[in-house]
Amino acid sequence: MNKTICVIGLGYIGLPTAVTFANHGVKVHGVDINPDAVRSIQEKQLHIEEPGLQERLNKAVDEGFLTAATTPIEADVFIVAVPSPIYEDKTANLEYVREATAAIVPYLKPGNLVILESTVPPKTVERVMIPELIKSGLDIGTELFVSHSPERVIPGRIFEELINNGRIIGGINKQSAELTKEVYEVFVKGPIHLTDATTAELVKIMENTYRDINIAFANELAKMAEILDVNIWEAIHYANFHPRVNIHFPGPGVGGHCIAIDPWFLVELGGDKAPMIHLARNINASMPGYTAQQTQRILNENKIAGGKVAVLGLAFKGNVDDMRESPSVEVIYELHKLGLEVTSFDPHIKENKHPTQTQSFEEAVNDADIILVLTDHKEFKEYNPLSITPNNKIVFDTKNCLNRKAWEEAGYQFHLLGDSKNK
Ligand SMILES: NC(=O)c1ccc[n+]([C@@H]2O[C@H](COP(=O)([O-])OP(=O)(O)OC[C@H]3O[C@@H](n4cnc5c(N)ncnc54)[C@H](O)[C@@H]3O)[C@@H](O)[C@H]2O)c1
Repeated sequence: MNKTICVIGLGYIGLPTAVTFANHGVKVHGVDINPDAVRSIQEKQLHIEEPGLQERLNKAVDEGFLTAATTPIEADVFIVAVPSPIYEDKTANLEYVREATAAIVPYLKPGNLVILESTVPPKTVERVMIPELIKSGLDIGTELFVSHSPERVIPGRIFEELINNGRIIGGINKQSAELTKEVYEVFVKGPIHLTDATTAELVKIMENTYRDINIAFANELAKMAEILDVNIWEAIHYANFHPRVNIHFPGPGVGGHCIAIDPWFLVELGGDKAPMIHLARNINASMPGYTAQQTQRILNENKIAGGKVAVLGLAFKGNVDDMRESPSVEVIYELHKLGLEVTSFDPHIKENKHPTQTQSFEEAVNDADIILVLTDHKEFKEYNPLSITPNNKIVFDTKNCLNRKAWEEAGYQFHLLGDSKNK
């Protein structure tokens, strides 16, 4: 493709996207308002963790296909991949999208294409981006083309999914959608589906909301399993053999920048038309409190007053360093409310980002009365329970990720969220 690209926002989505275009011979200029992120990219240092990113970044910079700065430059295509969080009151914060769009306006020229990759509430392109883009003086739809192509990759496997996932492209008109398709065809091998911008916005939100509701169902089942002498993980495993059933798994809560956020966009838009979505969100948001209470219950059953909890895992999911909306933070908050002492450890989060955090697994579990596993990092599966000496040999696995046999053989009392069968 003989076009230049300016990528606005160089985080978990923008940087891998910029690097992938650059590795495919496209001249990319990356922009981030965070000067530290820009400096580290220029120096080929990673400010985020993603398998395969380092070597791809090295190649992109060394071959001269990727530059980074805090301000945009003129380009043929602008890709916006900035945050789209929610405010405290759970309403959408679209200021990053609005500001990033405003920032590119001075650089726009006839024939340019602007693609929004951020996950946004339906109508954001129409109501937030277009009013900014109009300020360029270009005619929207004939001189300036605009589309939404939501990113659907999973952290930890971003490069594989960037290339192989299907892509939805919603244009403000047909030409915008087709121009966007030409851009992604540079590396996307999955099917590319063209639609309108609002449908594309809704599709992305629907996908994450579906998963949130599914997880809420699993969490509800897990709570019930605890009074039914059932292991919910076993039950879900069997139910999922049905060809039309795909129940997700329970856990200590739902975190991250996507599933914990996106359903709120629909709750805000839908109001009383979205009670199920709202309820699912609340069920998942109740899980950290439930996990803390279960921890307390186990301590009580063992006649341990107060007690020190060693939390394993601060990231919101396994094998990533991302703590955004992490249930672990909520669980620790709830444990503190119960008067319990907490130390935490996460092998993927190399700087202490939480007051309870230590960089040493041994230090975290030293003197612990219970080991509470909140994230299914691969390292936790590999830990040898014989190598540590906590105060009490009690472990509570909320992700079904430990080698139960090894821990039990090492003399541990083993608890699993949603399992009252194997006590
Ligand atoms: N992380 C994921 O797994 C994932 C998956 C699918 C979709 N998304 C969506 O992609 C979007 C980006 O998410 P992310 O995880 O990459 O966020 P991120 O926080 O990792 O990165 C966003 C970057 O944008 C920068 N930024 C903010 N405002 C800017 C501006 N005006 N100009 C230039 N840079 C600016 C920030 O400094 C940050 O580095 C969000 O809408 C998110 O919902 C994320």
